[in-house]
Amino acid sequence: MKHILVTGGAGFIGSHFVRYMLEKYPDYAINMLDKLTYAGNLSNLSDVQECYGPLERYHFFQGDICDPTSVKEAMQGCEYVLNFAAESHVDRSLEHPGHFIMTDVYGTYVLLEQARKEHIERFVQISTDEVYGEILSGNAGEDANVIPRSPYSASKAGGEFIAQAYFVTYGLPVIITRGSNNFGPFQHPRSLFRFS
Ligand SMILES: NC(=O)c1ccc[n+]([C@@H]2O[C@H](COP(=O)([O-])OP(=O)(O)OC[C@H]3O[C@@H](n4cnc5c(N)ncnc54)[C@H](O)[C@@H]3O)[C@@H](O)[C@H]2O)c1
Repeated sequence: MKHILVTGGAGFIGSHFVRYMLEKYPDYAINMLDKLTYAGNLSNLSDVQECYGPLERYHFFQGDICDPTSVKEAMQGCEYVLNFAAESHVDRSLEHPGHFIMTDVYGTYVLLEQARKEHIERFVQISTDEVYGEILSGNAGEDANVIPRSPYSASKAGGEFIAQAYFVTYGLPVIITRGSNNFGPFQHPRSLFRFS
């Protein structure tokens, strides 16, 4: 059995990932670490807890990715880490930029540091296409400039750069994704309203 630490799994995209992995890959078990902020909701995963908890394939840890003790406990025995946890709502980042810098930059550092100690085989940092800033026409390739325009996108870019530095400096096997906007079941209404 391979073990994955998924952070932010009580949120929108993380909860889909946890369910998908457990359904599709019977040889994987998931430790899920989430602070349960206003954006996290364990009911997004109530079916998962019921189905896979008794099989020891799903364990929930309530904690903050900025807290090294919580991170150490949740990462123990894992081979892989996927960091979905984030302050993720752009409009809130205008009101509380410090919260975003703390979770999206410092929290990412805490995870990377523990991943290095645990010799994690793959660390996936979930970032966002918002790091490119405004794309007025066409699309942005991986080598496009990073020009974040909000405290949210700037802190996600900061998390990415720290992850990249751990790859180059320490050889930690890091992958960074820059997905674009999603919508669907389990999405926080505050996030969906950004599309209107
Ligand atoms: N939703 C999108 O359209 C979109 C697009 C591109 C990238 N992303 C990225 O994907 C990831 C997931 O996005 P989402 O929309 O599911 O976010 P979300 O806001 O729905 O979920 C975030 C989760 O992280 C948890 N969390 C927040 N701070 C934490 C902390 N300090 N410690 C532990 N847990 C914490 C929350 O409780 C919540 O469960 C984020 O990293 C986001 O930047 C999202």
